[in-house]
Amino acid sequence: MIGLRRIGPDEFTLRLDAVLRVYTEAMNPPADQVAGRRLIMGNHATHPAFTCLFAELSDGTPVGIAYGFHGVPGQWWHDVVRRALAEKHGEGSARGWLGDALELAEIHVHPDYQGKGIGRAMITGMCAGRLERTAVLSTRDQPTAARHLYRSVGFVDLLTQFVFPGGHERYAILGTVLPLDG
Ligand SMILES: CC(C)(COP(=O)(O)OP(=O)(O)OC[C@H]1O[C@@H](n2cnc3c(N)ncnc32)[C@H](O)[C@@H]1OP(=O)(O)O)[C@@H](O)C(=O)NCCC(=O)NCCS
Repeated sequence: MIGLRRIGPDEFTLRLDAVLRVYTEAMNPPADQVAGRRLIMGNHATHPAFTCLFAELSDGTPVGIAYGFHGVPGQWWHDVVRRALAEKHGEGSARGWLGDALELAEIHVHPDYQGKGIGRAMITGMCAGRLERTAVLSTRDQPTAARHLYRSVGFVDLLTQFVFPGGHERYAILGTVLPLDG
C-alpha cells in the first residue's frame, strides 16, 4: 500500500538522505555529482512556498518524491530560463510563463515502483491548490516516460534542445497554465 504525504521544508531537510536514495535509484547520476545535488536540494527547501510530496510505503519509506516552489528572480534556474525564454520568444512570453510560476524541481519514482500511477498522482497533487498562474519544469529532451507524463497532463514545450550553462545534455523547458485540466 502506497500513500502520498505532503512534506514541509523542515522534514524534507531532515529526510534528505531518503530523498537522495530515490533520486539516485531513479536517475542513476554519476557518483561524484550526488553531494552537489544534495546541497542544491537543501537550498531548494529554503525557497518560497516550497512544497513536497512523498509517495510512501506503509513503513514510511519513500519510493517517490516530488517537490517545487515559487520561482523568483535570484534563483539560478529561474534566471537562466527566464533569459533564454526572453531571447527566444520575447520578454512578454518570459514574463507570462515565469512571472508567477510554480517551479517543479524534481519528480522521481524508484524503478521498482514506476508505471503504477505514482508519478501522475504526484504531479497532479503538486499542482492542485496552487495559486500560481503557471507551472514550469525542465526535463531531458528525449522520448522518456517523464516527457510522456508531462504532456499528458497538459505541459507544452517552451524551449527544446536547451543546454544549461556548464552542462552538455539537452533539455526541454515545459510549461502549463494552472489549474491542470481535469
Ligand atoms: C517520470 C516518472 C517520475 C514517472 O513516474 P511513474 O510512477 O513511473 O509514472 P506513472 O506510472 O504515473 O505513468 C505515467 C505515464 O508514463 C507512462 N510510462 C511509464 N513508464 C514509461 C516508459 N518507460 N516509457 C514510456 N511511457 C512510460 C505510463 O504509461 C503513464 O502513461 P499513461 O497513463 O498514458 O499510460 C518515473 O518514470 C521516473 O522516476 N523516471 C526516472 C526519473 C525521471 O526521469 N524523473 C523526471 C525528471 S524531470
